Amino acid sequence: MEKMITVVLVGAGNRANVYASVSLQHPEKMKVVGIVDPDPVRRELMRERYNVSMENYFEDVAEFVKREKFADAVINGTMDHLHVPTSIPILEKGYDMLLEKPFAVNEQEMNKLVEVARKHGSKVVIGHVLRYTDFYRSIKNHVLSGEIGKIISIETCEHVSYHHMAVSYVRGKWASEKVCFAPMLLAKSCHDVDILLWMMKETNPTQIVSFGADFQFGKDRKPAGAGTRCMQDCPYAKECIFSADSNYLSFPRWGQYVWKCLEANKNLTEEEQAESLRTDNRYGKCVWDFERDGNVDHQAVMFNFANGATGTFSMVGGCAKPERNIHIVGTLGEIKGTFDDSRYVVRKMAPATSELGYEETVYDLNVKGDMIGAAGGHGGGDEKLVHDFLDYLNGHEPSVSCATIEDSVISHRAVFKAMQSKYNGEIVKI
Ligand SMILES: NC(=O)c1ccc[n+]([C@@H]2O[C@H](COP(=O)([O-])OP(=O)(O)OC[C@H]3O[C@@H](n4cnc5c(N)ncnc54)[C@H](O)[C@@H]3O)[C@@H](O)[C@H]2O)c1
Repeated sequence: MEKMITVVLVGAGNRANVYASVSLQHPEKMKVVGIVDPDPVRRELMRERYNVSMENYFEDVAEFVKREKFADAVINGTMDHLHVPTSIPILEKGYDMLLEKPFAVNEQEMNKLVEVARKHGSKVVIGHVLRYTDFYRSIKNHVLSGEIGKIISIETCEHVSYHHMAVSYVRGKWASEKVCFAPMLLAKSCHDVDILLWMMKETNPTQIVSFGADFQFGKDRKPAGAGTRCMQDCPYAKECIFSADSNYLSFPRWGQYVWKCLEANKNLTEEEQAESLRTDNRYGKCVWDFERDGNVDHQAVMFNFANGATGTFSMVGGCAKPERNIHIVGTLGEIKGTFDDSRYVVRKMAPATSELGYEETVYDLNVKGDMIGAAGGHGGGDEKLVHDFLDYLNGHEPSVSCATIEDSVISHRAVFKAMQSKYNGEIVKI
């Protein structure tokens, strides 16, 4: 008989809410019993949604940990730089944790948190949701089966759409490394570095080199005559691809970020939204007017592995269509696919079967059997990660997809080393 797991949301924002939603669909498996968040609007929204009792409602972690432990686990959905300082006292109190990625913003604090988790025997799972998607999980199974032989090379890329780039990494919460402490490679693509190293798990990276730059943004690239706010004083408002009007009003993209400042208003009208973009909403400001603080909009990383294999990852922020691609070449075959299409091919060397010299099987996860392709957040990965976390707390062995804090160290360290390489122009040993 599985135990119903009780959780406290620490950082009751977008991500904590996504994970906590599983408790509404599966009340027999999980229940939200506490909330820790300094933002009274967030606390109230989440308290109502999850029906949390007033006594388990805290403004900060210090206040929360003063109470005797009253739940099985914490879902820590605070922002990147708060993960370590908020997690340490919670793990010390004996809670297990689902902790969002990136779980640390530098190597020193990463090591500190791992040490605390080890000392207290805590079960800490990191939010590497892509590992749980049918796409990456199926590809991982092909790799594990040995059918493509030993991996010689792995190439992956993440194409971030121009509107996602602008909302998150130029106008948004990850715009400035000085403020959020997480460069884009860490904040956005630690998932992709994790996937690459997860596929390569039989070996370890030994050297990393990385290049990146800001190609499109920054004040010096602002078009001549452009205004300060798209919907207030800009002559390019109709044609600009970054226009607040077309991106946030004509289509409801990225509402969780753009309307955060108006969250207390439950009956928000379009006119109020437009007024906010015209006046004080940061997402209404000209995309070229933000400080870039050394942030990039594209970055490439190369890996050398202990067994002689090589890998590359390329992040490009500013594409028409968001897309993640993977191409793994092994000694007996290869796998090539596009995550966003939920489709990949496996090619196996077969000299005796046809003139081509290989056999190809197409896996279309949109239509195949019980695979549901891209359904749900992050291709269904969000929900599956929560179920796996609950199973883990119920004593099951961690699944192939499970990224415990120990598993996640390698990809975080790789990102820190890639940033060191990018900053210093050197090949970095890992
Ligand atoms: N796994 C993924 O694919 C994925 C996707 C997006 C974001 N993320 C990560 O999830 C995390 C949260 O992102 P989000 O967009 O949900 O953020 P958010 O801003 O919506 O939520 C963060 C919450 O933390 C609260 N908070 C601030 N200081 C706090 C403190 N000291 N103690 C407790 N709560 C505090 C804020 O009030 C806010 O409600 C980030 O680390 C982000 O990088 C992960």
